[in-house]
Amino acid sequence: MSLKNTVDRWGGVSQCLHWTIAALILLIGLVGLVMGELPRSPKYFWVYTAHKSLGLAVLALVVVRIGWRVYAGAPRPVPGTPRWQALLAAATHGAIYLLILAIPMSGWMLDSASGLRPLRWFGLVEVPKLVAPDEALAANAHGAHEWLFWLLMALVVAHAGAALYHHFIQRDQTLARMLPRGWIAVPPKQDSR
Ligand code: HEM
Ligand code: HEM
Repeated sequence: MSLKNTVDRWGGVSQCLHWTIAALILLIGLVGLVMGELPRSPKYFWVYTAHKSLGLAVLALVVVRIGWRVYAGAPRPVPGTPRWQALLAAATHGAIYLLILAIPMSGWMLDSASGLRPLRWFGLVEVPKLVAPDEALAANAHGAHEWLFWLLMALVVAHAGAALYHHFIQRDQTLARMLPRGWIAVPPKQDSR
C-alpha cells in the first residue's frame, strides 16, 4: 500500500488517520454525553480522565494529520465532479478540520478554567492548565464544547451521507479511495437502456 497520497487515491497514512480520528471522536463524544449523568463521585473520575486523555490524543493526531495533508497533498476530486460539488466538499472538509481542533481545545479550556484537580494524561504526565480558574470562561468553554460537537455531528452526517451517495448512487471511487485497495468494490453502473 502506498503511504503517500497520489492524484487519485488517499495513501495509507491519511486513511489510517481519517478512520482512527473518526472512530475516536464518536467514542469520546458518546462517553462525554454519558459521563455527565454519572454520580459526581471519585469512583467515576477515571471516566473523565479517559475522556480528556483520549480527547487530547485526538488533538495531537489532528495536528499530525494536518501536517501530513500539507506535506502529502490530496487526490484530485473524482473525474466528472461538478465544480460546485468540489467547492462544497472543500468547504465542509475545512469546517470539519476547524471543529476537530476547536472541540478538544475548548475541552482543555473548560478543564483549565474550572480549576479542577490536575489532569494527568492517562495517569502519566501532568497536562498544563491553559488559564487560571475563571467561572465565566468555564461556562463559555462548556457551551462551546457542547455546541461545536453537535455542529460537527451535523456536518459529519452530511459528510458520510455524501460519501455513501457517491458510492451507491453515483458509483464512483470517492469512498473506495479512502479505504485500502480492494476492501470495497464500486457497484457496477446499471445499464441505462
Ligand atoms: C475529540 C475530542 C472531544 C470530544 C468529541 C468531546 C465531546 C464531549 C461531549 C459531547 C461532551 C458532553 C457535553 C455536555 O453535554 O455537556 C463533553 C463533555 C466534557 N468534555 Fe469533552 N470532548 C472532547 C475532548 C475533551 C478534552 C480534550 C477535554 C479536557 C481536557 C474535555 C473535557 C470535557 C469535560 C470536563 C466535559 C464535561 C462537562 C460537564 O459535564 O461538566 N473534552 N465532551
Ligand atoms: C467524526 C467523523 C469524521 C470526520 C471528523 C471526518 C473528517 C474528514 C475530513 C476532514 C476529510 C477531508 C480530508 C482532506 O481533504 O484532507 C474527510 C474525507 C473523507 N471522509 Fe470523512 N470524516 C468522518 C467520518 C466519515 C465517515 C463516517 C465516512 C463514510 C461513510 C467518511 C468518508 C470520507 C471520504 C470518502 C473522504 C474522502 C473524500 C474525497 O476523497 O474527496 N468520513 N473526512
